Amino acid sequence: MAKLIINNENKKSKIAPEIYGHFSEHLGRCIYEGLYVGENSDIPNVNGMRSDVVEALKEMKIPVLRWPGGCFADEYHWMDGIGPKNKRKKMINTHWGGVVEDNSFGTHEFFELTKQLGCKTYVNANLGSGTVREMSEWVEYMTFNGVSPMADLRKENGHEEPWKVDYLGVGNENWGCGGNMRPTFYADEYRRYQTYVRNYDASKPIQKICCGPNSDDYNWTKNVLETCFDHTPAHFHGFMDGFSLHYYTLPETVDDWNFKGSATEFTEDIFYQTLKRSLFMDELIRKHGAIMDQYDPDKKIGLMVDEWGIWTDVEPGTNPGFLYQQNTMRDALVAGMNLNIFNKHSDRVKMACIAQLVNVLQSVILTDGEKMIKTPTYYVFKMFRHHQGATLLDSTLCNNSNVGAGQNELPKIIESVSENENGEITITLTNNSLEAAEDVEIALVKDADKFKVSEAIVLKGRMADHNTFDDPEVVKEESFKDYREDNGLMCTIPACSVLMLRLKK
Ligand code: AHR
Repeated sequence: MAKLIINNENKKSKIAPEIYGHFSEHLGRCIYEGLYVGENSDIPNVNGMRSDVVEALKEMKIPVLRWPGGCFADEYHWMDGIGPKNKRKKMINTHWGGVVEDNSFGTHEFFELTKQLGCKTYVNANLGSGTVREMSEWVEYMTFNGVSPMADLRKENGHEEPWKVDYLGVGNENWGCGGNMRPTFYADEYRRYQTYVRNYDASKPIQKICCGPNSDDYNWTKNVLETCFDHTPAHFHGFMDGFSLHYYTLPETVDDWNFKGSATEFTEDIFYQTLKRSLFMDELIRKHGAIMDQYDPDKKIGLMVDEWGIWTDVEPGTNPGFLYQQNTMRDALVAGMNLNIFNKHSDRVKMACIAQLVNVLQSVILTDGEKMIKTPTYYVFKMFRHHQGATLLDSTLCNNSNVGAGQNELPKIIESVSENENGEITITLTNNSLEAAEDVEIALVKDADKFKVSEAIVLKGRMADHNTFDDPEVVKEESFKDYREDNGLMCTIPACSVLMLRLKK
């Protein structure tokens, strides 16, 4: 039996709501069909945004949305996506699937979507193939409230008031699709571009995100930070507010992107291998975080894990450039483990955006025409939403066993615990075992006798269980009853499950 000791006298960092963030790219059916169907669609919509999807995302409490890419961002020229829709340029999305991009979803539509969702905005600017002027004019167009060519243009296009850009990405993956740059070259470019990200409204400063590493490229982290820090050691934070990290879990291969493994058909060994590979996130955060500590010991700059999740082969018969994949209980465990890891590192991780929101990679929602389904990953985000903005509590799991074998061995239970401003405690746990339930004793250091379970939700199933358009509720959240409170709190976590418990005085 495992024992979870929660030291509720030892309060740690605040869990930034943005850790539960999402990413939407002009890729496959994420924006078009998934989020935006246009005002004239038969699918119920408000100003072109699908009502069913918006409702589901609000219920899940989406805190921030990143747009327009991804690789697409460094090829995106924002002026193509403003003004009357019938006059907007049509072009080929060369990166993703070679389909026509008609630019009917652009800046105004993004802010309409985030307004409907009630979430923060993260706009990723083009450094790879754009210019400093193009980026600075975009910032002016979006955020300036005076007389200026770009503010006037925004007004001509029907939006009098400026919008709020909460985060601005200065390039994306500039070590790869964003220009194949060397770290010091990118860092010099970052220094130049960020200079022109003006804060037109000092009360709403834009947080600037510098392009960080791919996976374990510690050389990138070291060189970019060194080159940027060297310029402005006294004001490093403000020069840079966030530093990104991208890490995808490939279930079956390390570097053959043509064969990553199926989303729904895999063996138990591959199941454990996927989880073990996903757990690598913890090491990445610790090691990149240690480099960041050398330049930013007070942890003012956030590590923004703004792309993460499982990346499998596409569903058979779909466009390989659309990255459409199914989502199983394995995805739910990957999501639960990673979100627990981010919570535990919330002193450094200030944002994470799973890739991607709808119909692409590890999505929370899949659509097919007018139909929509919630994936297992959706339910995990919904269950974990109570951690948003709460304070991480010190927690230790004793007597935790391992599952998987050899290289793929990993801890059976992965957990995190937080307390919100009303003193309510949220505990989230994954049971990574395919075979065995686990009895867990939960012990609070303070006021143990006063706390009672106020809500308990579980997501469980077999490893490859997933929802389909014909059978949309194979995996869904259920109320959890398998706990006892007579002599302390004990619960039995089913095999292959994610559990959320809330405690109240
Ligand atoms: O999420 C899909 C792609 O993965 C993004 O466009 C890119 O940033 C990353 O390589």
